[in-house]
Amino acid sequence: MSETTNIPATTTVGIVGAGPAGLLLARLLHQAGVDCVVLEARDRAYVEQRQRAGVLEQSTVDVLRATGAAARLERESIVHDGIELSWNRRRHRIDFPELTGGSRVWVYAQTEVVKDLIALQLVDGAPLLFEAQATAVTGADTDRPVIHYTHEGVARTLSCDYVVGCDGYHGVTRNAIPADELTTYERVYPYSWFGILADVAPSNDELVYAHSPRGFALLSMRSHTVSRLYLQVPNGTDPHVWSDERIWDELDARFAVDGDWKLARGPITQRAVLPLRSSVTEPMRWGRIFLAGDAAHIVPPTGAKGLNLAAADVTVLARAFEQWQRTGASAGLDDYSRHCLERVWRAEQFSYFMTTTLHTAPEQNPFDTRLQISQLDRISASPYAAAELALNYVGTAL
Ligand code: APR
Ligand code: PHB
Repeated sequence: MSETTNIPATTTVGIVGAGPAGLLLARLLHQAGVDCVVLEARDRAYVEQRQRAGVLEQSTVDVLRATGAAARLERESIVHDGIELSWNRRRHRIDFPELTGGSRVWVYAQTEVVKDLIALQLVDGAPLLFEAQATAVTGADTDRPVIHYTHEGVARTLSCDYVVGCDGYHGVTRNAIPADELTTYERVYPYSWFGILADVAPSNDELVYAHSPRGFALLSMRSHTVSRLYLQVPNGTDPHVWSDERIWDELDARFAVDGDWKLARGPITQRAVLPLRSSVTEPMRWGRIFLAGDAAHIVPPTGAKGLNLAAADVTVLARAFEQWQRTGASAGLDDYSRHCLERVWRAEQFSYFMTTTLHTAPEQNPFDTRLQISQLDRISASPYAAAELALNYVGTAL
């Protein structure tokens, strides 16, 4: 059902998608006095429960604070000063403040960020329409692009000065740009992540990224009582054929380390398999159409960059729209794609590095594995190598 009833037929900025990118953009534009409307295909419950990542960089926390959307984050997030790498039955901690001059990260699930932004927007924000499926965006090369959408079985249109596609990798906005005007760079990985939520206290204070001959594993968390864990599986794995015991046994094998550390087990409450992909679509702006977040780029979750890249895109874009509305200058809008792609490619390279260093590919030979071990040994031995990882992870490498 729609959450706000009086949806106008025209607006300044039409936003397709109410994920983190669309919701944060709407918040920033509302604060800047730029009219916008958000159209979201799914219902509110679906959008709010979609399990995604859970690590926020300082800049993401800063923009959530600036938009007034961080009250619960301040109460419920867990601040982390490091992560641990695990390989050859050993652990090495990456100390973020020491290696980056004081930076850290916040563990706070994307589902919670989305809930906080929706709650805020419905009380004091731009119009937000759920179950409004955009079917096409036309007029990208005119000064009045139009979003065609259906809501409650009725075909409607939203005429805009600009349209921003925040509709993710499978969205429709990208199709509004002529295919020969876009270049998409892509890599599909030969493995997926099997993610679980478990009602058990995390067995480690900080995240553990584990390399093992059996495959990658990640220990993360959602709170002090809920664990979030992932293990590398072959593409196409059916999450429902694995017993809980098999999942825990496999995680035990991959986190194995000398000493008395033990992975606590508990009831698994959610499970899903997600494929890994790297993808960048250039440019991120054509005519009156902008792309932000997953609509423009996808990163494998190993570097915890997806949500933070989306937040960074819309922070740049909102500032550009504010400049345009206040002064008529389009310099920020014209520079948006170049500005964002520099950071996007840095995040793509870091996510690729973390993924290929820590995962054991199906056709991997012993030489490849020894290269991975050498890289991990280097990170533990060299503060410079460790600092490069830390700076990229906390988001200040650019
Ligand atoms: N019409 C309206 N809404 C649409 C359409 C459409 N045709 N197609 C997709 N959407 C909506 C989806 O239902 C979703 O709610 O667009 C939203 C896109 O949200 P995300 O996929 O979360 O993308 P984004 O906001 O860019 O956030 C990126 O989300 O997927 C994760 O790992 C990713 O953490 C990163 C973050
Ligand atoms: C998560 O908590 O879901 C998470 C954390 C770090 C990652 C990926 C996912 O790199």
